[in-house]
Amino acid sequence: MQNNNEKDWGELYCTAISHQQLSPALLRAIQLLYEETTVSLPGHAIDLGCGLGRDTKRLLAEEFTVLAVDANEYVIDKLQASADSKLLRTQVASFENTDWSPTTLINAALALPYCPREHFAFVWSQILASLIPQGVLVADFFLLLPGQSRDEPMVQSFSKEEVTNFLAALDVAFYQEWQSTFVNAAGNHVQRLACTVIAQRKRY
Ligand SMILES: C[S@@+](CC[C@H](N)C(=O)[O-])C[C@H]1O[C@@H](n2cnc3c(N)ncnc32)[C@H](O)[C@@H]1O
Repeated sequence: MQNNNEKDWGELYCTAISHQQLSPALLRAIQLLYEETTVSLPGHAIDLGCGLGRDTKRLLAEEFTVLAVDANEYVIDKLQASADSKLLRTQVASFENTDWSPTTLINAALALPYCPREHFAFVWSQILASLIPQGVLVADFFLLLPGQSRDEPMVQSFSKEEVTNFLAALDVAFYQEWQSTFVNAAGNHVQRLACTVIAQRKRY
């Protein structure tokens, strides 16, 4: 059941992101799959924290089957209304309750920073376990700025060392840091350092 805070968050997010272009990292990841792997394509994708589905829709256009997961019923309803495809399955669920299955591409654009700390290790283990050999993950992390507290409500930031450790089981194909202003769940504008990663499960 959706509460008012979830609706507000959805609306905030819709205002902030819905008109933004597709993540360039997702295009790069799709290109990587086609040009540098031997996996059967188009494959299956999970769009974690899909929001309104800007990336889900691109994956559908590329003829991937897509499981689009978001805890917010409001954005899933909007996605379903705007993307009528037999290739699409949606799930209103928290990351840890995702219906994991063998997956060619996992997209987590601006999503994992909102995974509660107590669930992150499990969610990360499921991401690693679900990727097929040579499968690709596209994910954003928020990086801790000097002096920044880890205890910000509803947002997880990691040190670069922690992110490096998370990625140790994968081959990193692309890593880019960037800064931007985000609207947090309280409606405040906050400056953040983020990184975008494209990483591939090893062949064996
Ligand atoms: C910043 S938006 C990014 C949406 C989309 N990936 C994009 O790039 O357009 C973050 C999304 O993650 C969802 N989200 C936040 N916490 C979540 C959780 N614990 N489980 C599932 N989804 C969550 C929000 O509802 C929101 O739609």
